[in-house]
Amino acid sequence: MKVSFDPKIVHGTPADIFVAGVFKGKNFSEQSNELKDLDQAQRDLLSKTVEFESGKFKGNAGETLLVTMPTSQSAPTRKFILTGLGEEDNFSLDAVRKASASAIRLAKSEKAESVKTLVHGACLKTIDPYRIAQTITEVSNLAIYSFDKYKTKDHDKRHEIKHLILASSNQDHFDKINAGIQRGVMVSRAQSFARDWVNEPPVNKTPIILSEIAKKVARENDLEIEVLDKNKCLKHGMGSFLSVARGSDEPPMFIVIKYRPKHPPKKHIALIGKGVTFDSGGLDLKPASGMEDMKIDMAGAAAVIATMSTMKELEPDVAISMIVPATENMTGGKAIKPRDVVYAMDGTSIEIMNTDAEGRLILADAIAYAVNVLKVDEIIDLATLTGAIGVALGEAFTGVMTNNQEQADKIVKAGNEEGERMWQLPLCDDYRDAIKSEVADIKNLGDKGQAGAQAGAVFLEHFTEGKPWTHLDIASTAYISKANEYGPKGATGVGVRTLVNYLDNYV
Ligand code: BES
Ligand code: ZN
Ligand code: ZN
Repeated sequence: MKVSFDPKIVHGTPADIFVAGVFKGKNFSEQSNELKDLDQAQRDLLSKTVEFESGKFKGNAGETLLVTMPTSQSAPTRKFILTGLGEEDNFSLDAVRKASASAIRLAKSEKAESVKTLVHGACLKTIDPYRIAQTITEVSNLAIYSFDKYKTKDHDKRHEIKHLILASSNQDHFDKINAGIQRGVMVSRAQSFARDWVNEPPVNKTPIILSEIAKKVARENDLEIEVLDKNKCLKHGMGSFLSVARGSDEPPMFIVIKYRPKHPPKKHIALIGKGVTFDSGGLDLKPASGMEDMKIDMAGAAAVIATMSTMKELEPDVAISMIVPATENMTGGKAIKPRDVVYAMDGTSIEIMNTDAEGRLILADAIAYAVNVLKVDEIIDLATLTGAIGVALGEAFTGVMTNNQEQADKIVKAGNEEGERMWQLPLCDDYRDAIKSEVADIKNLGDKGQAGAQAGAVFLEHFTEGKPWTHLDIASTAYISKANEYGPKGATGVGVRTLVNYLDNYV
């Protein structure tokens, strides 16, 4: 969907549907001047209709009302969507999200080709119009996302809105709205890209294919890329990563993309994404119900690759090394077995208790590589690591675990600002003790009765050597069973908005 700005609300670019935000508990004369101008141009038809309908439409955030002008009247626009912004005193970007998402979805169901919208709440001057325009653009693009690539019949493909126009007559806001649109387009494009790859069937996103995608992203953003094949990984001693790949016929790929700023960087950050392109569980085979969605086990990889796709435009002033260990977790004749012992590249011996706890095994070498070879200053990893995180937090929050409170606080803030909710879980020595092994240094499972998400986290922590590190367990937020304001059920592309905001504003 193309998104553009129009300085003329009434007489500018026409559109099939016009969206206007309405505050709750106010009559028409108390709403924004822009809405009143619009009404005048419509010969007061809008205000009359709303008064008429006021019993039904309250203006709660997320509530919408489709208003169709009678054909007998010569009014410039035929269809309006009034979308609730909630109470003026509580106005927030969250209200903008709900209002924009429900309006654009209604416009989509009305099969509109073009939609024009006011910049909700900009008149209040409580929130920067840049942020409002960014949010409207982001949410609108993401809310109507669909994955129709494999529908072979045109009539099965969902309707697409071609053009969204943000309109404002306030000259002071023009530049900010334009800049907000640009940011919103960049972020929503990156996040949709992440969604596309998470939704993709596993046969079409093997480690080799994933490395080709990464190469394309690197090329398009003038970034350096290095893809380590099995032999190179062997030379680095990545026995933990390679052990997971042993059961698969698909060769593993260890993908590294490097962004270096023009000026000396403030610091060097590793962004690591779990890239298990299919997780059968290995010999500890998952039941069918648990395996059904395991194409999503590369959602961390998708999020960090997508984040790198914004580098040309974002140009953060830190050095970034993105690392994706990519492999399948399968059951072939060479597959690792429970109670095998493998060595990570830092020399740590690991007893494999469960072949389905493979995410931590591949991330161990990725973290060790970031610390010992790339010598990064801090690490952020995104991984669909444990089912346990969903038990704790459900689909509403990404789980956050860290060895550095300051870093985690900034990431959580960056996430919350972008509507990607996060919640921190504690790490402590009880959990660290629970991954000690009888025969090796550590094991890839906690003791019985110990917190599952944290057992995964302390395993990763072992390889950070004290470098600031924050782990985002996205197992329950990467793929959702029910639509929310940011999109349909299925892949969410979670993490992209958080990382872009973090890299831009918190480093
Ligand atoms: N990929 C799974 C985690 C997962 C579960 C992701 C549900 C998305 C949705 C991970 O590799 C896994 O299997 N974890 C095990 C760990 C256990 C064996 C300690 C789990 O959560 O059951
Ligand atoms: Zn697994
Ligand atoms: Zn997994």
